[in-house]
Amino acid sequence: MIKNTLLPVAEFCQRRNNFIAQMPENSIALITASKEVTRSNDTEYPFCQNKNFYYLTGFNEPDAVLAMIKGDTSKPAQSILFSREKDSLQEVWHGRRVGQVKAIENYHVDQCFSLVEIEDQLLPLMVGKTSVLICLQEKNEFEQQVLAWLSQIRKSARMGVKAPSSLVDCSDIIAEMRLHKSTAELDIMRQVNLISGAAHQRAMQQAQAGKFEYQIEAELLHEFATNGARYPAYGSIVAGGDNANILHYTDNDDKLNNNDLLLIDAGGELAGYAADITRTFPINGRFNDAQKTIYQLVLDSQNLAINAIKPTQTFAGLNRIVCNFLTKGLYDLGILTGDLSVLLAQKACKKYFIHGLGHWLGLDVHDVGDYQPNEQREQLRPFAQGMVLTIEPGIYIPLSDRSVDEKWRGIGIRIEDNIAVTATGFENLTVNAPKTIVDIEAVMAK
Ligand code: GLY
Ligand code: MN
Ligand code: MN
Repeated sequence: MIKNTLLPVAEFCQRRNNFIAQMPENSIALITASKEVTRSNDTEYPFCQNKNFYYLTGFNEPDAVLAMIKGDTSKPAQSILFSREKDSLQEVWHGRRVGQVKAIENYHVDQCFSLVEIEDQLLPLMVGKTSVLICLQEKNEFEQQVLAWLSQIRKSARMGVKAPSSLVDCSDIIAEMRLHKSTAELDIMRQVNLISGAAHQRAMQQAQAGKFEYQIEAELLHEFATNGARYPAYGSIVAGGDNANILHYTDNDDKLNNNDLLLIDAGGELAGYAADITRTFPINGRFNDAQKTIYQLVLDSQNLAINAIKPTQTFAGLNRIVCNFLTKGLYDLGILTGDLSVLLAQKACKKYFIHGLGHWLGLDVHDVGDYQPNEQREQLRPFAQGMVLTIEPGIYIPLSDRSVDEKWRGIGIRIEDNIAVTATGFENLTVNAPKTIVDIEAVMAK
């Protein structure tokens, strides 16, 4: 389907310009790439670029640093990249490097120097600036490096050199930008949803009692990579039966049983962007009555929430809708007992709906962006056009729950779609992962 989809370079330039416009005058921002992470001895995990760095550059090598420099209004701002130098021996062993010449050509930064030169080139640029902006919220060693550079500059104070006096966190500026997706970003998110939806469909068709969960995981990974999303966006959850009641189950090493459900939470990553889709379906292709009942309840609650999405809606508002609906539904089934008005006031469904309704989605699966929670932790951020979020209600009744009729025990169901907020409502990006009972059973019968 799609190979090596990338955003146009102009989009990255525009992001840097938008960021620079929000920098204080006479400041310098330093954004760092990820480092390679050792898996064991001399092997590394597949490289994953720092998402803030990627957002501003599109550059996919480890160790690099982006400097954005804003003087006063008389001087144009500059973007300078520091990257690994060309090295034929290293490149023969470990792979090609972009190098400095191609970095300017391909990524449209104003200048690029090798990392070997970083102190010689960067420290003079920091001198005389009022503040240094970095992403303080990220747990990396770069902060220590910047502090060391600042103290190095301060050592020259007697020679009239002035060091920046403040270190400012710019994570929120980037988070706010990342929260609002452009047309090109939405297009990629549509594509990665299509790829991931096809993977869920393939998993449904390949599921069979006696197979292991990781064999179904292999089907997902095959479909992602075949269609251009080489890596999953996060560790795939393939949870048969009661394993679905472990929210972040990634062992994926149990055998699938004939009468159980299979919950799959998996999405590919394309051009850095994540899909995050969950489907739950019967391993033998036919829901039994109890499974059908809970499934339909979760599905109806999800549709209620999705249909209420539009600009100005909030997660808090959607949570109210879903919580009331699920509480009433579980009460009608005898799973929750007591006085309905009390149960509603207590949000009693939370006994079985044990996680949040959704989250922002983008370059990270749990994407950045302020939820504006109040003291009760209700998320009051009004939705706006271009935001992308998940809607993922679930009901989890562990096998060990003696408070409910036996027929419900061991049922764990989550249904998760990815939704873009439009000018007047919403667009469901998750269009090809079967979701209704009829559609799931039809796909699995083939
Ligand atoms: N896959 C993690 C989540 O659904 O939030
Ligand atoms: Mn999610
Ligand atoms: Mn998920």
